[in-house]
Amino acid sequence: MGSEHHLAEPKRMEMDEHIQGILWTEKEIADRVAELGSDISKDFQDCSPPLVIIGVATGAFLFLADIVRKITLPVMVDFIKVSSYGSGMESNGSPQICNDVKIDIKDKHVIVIEDIVDTGHTLSCLISHLEEKGASSVSVCTLLDKPARRTVVMKIHRGKFYRGFECPDNFVVGYGMDYAELYRNLPYIGILKPEIYE
Ligand code: PRP
Repeated sequence: MGSEHHLAEPKRMEMDEHIQGILWTEKEIADRVAELGSDISKDFQDCSPPLVIIGVATGAFLFLADIVRKITLPVMVDFIKVSSYGSGMESNGSPQICNDVKIDIKDKHVIVIEDIVDTGHTLSCLISHLEEKGASSVSVCTLLDKPARRTVVMKIHRGKFYRGFECPDNFVVGYGMDYAELYRNLPYIGILKPEIYE
């Protein structure tokens, strides 16, 4: 601890052993996040600043932390918390906002940062909610998109849609994403072995 030097990396073997396969490595994620940050910076360079970056807690916390450092425009940062999954594996389809944004987003360009779009319920609810608060535009930037699971068509009226990777229909964890609140600190994104959650 402290300023001592460590020769070996701290062990996270136990978590790694629960992973069936890695989908995207730390480097692949970092490269894609840099591209998304660059795209956003170009697309919004002529919009009135600042951009408001809203992370969907908790899963988006790492993605948000990384992408804001790749956006070269002035930004404000806030989080919103939505509950829909409880302790189960499936969305119940009626997301509730439990912690709203604190920043006044009226007449501002907003980008919602998500780790994953699955059924689409969470983002559909959030887009409507943020538009009702008077945002000039509401865009979505999700690291993963699982189109095979979509049950709701997300309507983005005055914004853009960015996605990092198309995700296969597996249970994925890491880089912010959890199972039972664990695995969020894995630096890569991997498929969780079914025996862990079955
Ligand atoms: C996950 C994810 C999205 C949502 C996507 O959040 O972070 O917010 O589910 O699912 P949907 O498209 O079916 O609505 P989760 O409820 O697991 O909470 P977490 O971010 O705290 O992990």
